Amino acid sequence: MANLKNSENNIPEKICEKIKHIAFIMDGNGRWAQKRLLPRSQGHVAGLKTFTEIVKYCFKLGIANVTVYAFSTENWNRSEEEVSALMGLLEKNIDENADELIENGIRIIFLGDKTPLSKTLAEKMKRLEERSSHNKGILNVAVNYGARDEIVNAVNALISENKTAVTAEDISEHLYTKNSPDPDLIVRTAGEKRLSNFLLWQAAYSEFYYSDKLWPDFTPADVDLALENFMSRHRKYGGY
Ligand code: FPP
Repeated sequence: MANLKNSENNIPEKICEKIKHIAFIMDGNGRWAQKRLLPRSQGHVAGLKTFTEIVKYCFKLGIANVTVYAFSTENWNRSEEEVSALMGLLEKNIDENADELIENGIRIIFLGDKTPLSKTLAEKMKRLEERSSHNKGILNVAVNYGARDEIVNAVNALISENKTAVTAEDISEHLYTKNSPDPDLIVRTAGEKRLSNFLLWQAAYSEFYYSDKLWPDFTPADVDLALENFMSRHRKYGGY
């Protein structure tokens, strides 16, 4: 991963010292498709292209951890057609992009319970996690992820270790995100301002940035705007 300053932006060269983890709630694929009278699945196809471009850009800036919310535990409530389109895209993305990610030093970790996924997809995900486990840059892809489920899982894991009292660190170390620090910045697109069961524990001191752009329209220049805005924040962590 290069620590390159992009000459076309105002992002400081050492942005990666200020921001170790950026997370995206990739919202607005459906509306993007609707505006074009296309099926919702086409919005997700466009969203996948944006995902690929934005993730590459964040790693190019030297940000060590990138997390995306690809499919929530609540997204099963969508039509069978949309769910299967999303699962198909995930599988296609693994088939087509895994090698490039691994060659670029990226470790892929899927956040969430793989049990309800198809056996083929779950195995491809597991294999990709194993194949990339030696890499340093972390791409967390949340699939069948819900933050409340994640916390409940962590507590149950601690109970099964016979713990009778736990610390905040114990919980953090048993979350799906245990390999990454808490997110410094959470970006949500499409004008919505809510967390939607994403990283509830980890977001305790995160900064938030909202963009009105629909996810398929989101560009590296929009990442720059988010980072410039982030750089102007004074993080107090309850102090001054
Ligand atoms: C929310 O937009 C987006 C999702 C539920 C899926 C996100 C998926 C992708 C960006 C593509 C696949 C990604 C990977 C990593 C393989 P929405 O559909 O709720 O939009 P709406 O609110 O406008 O309806």
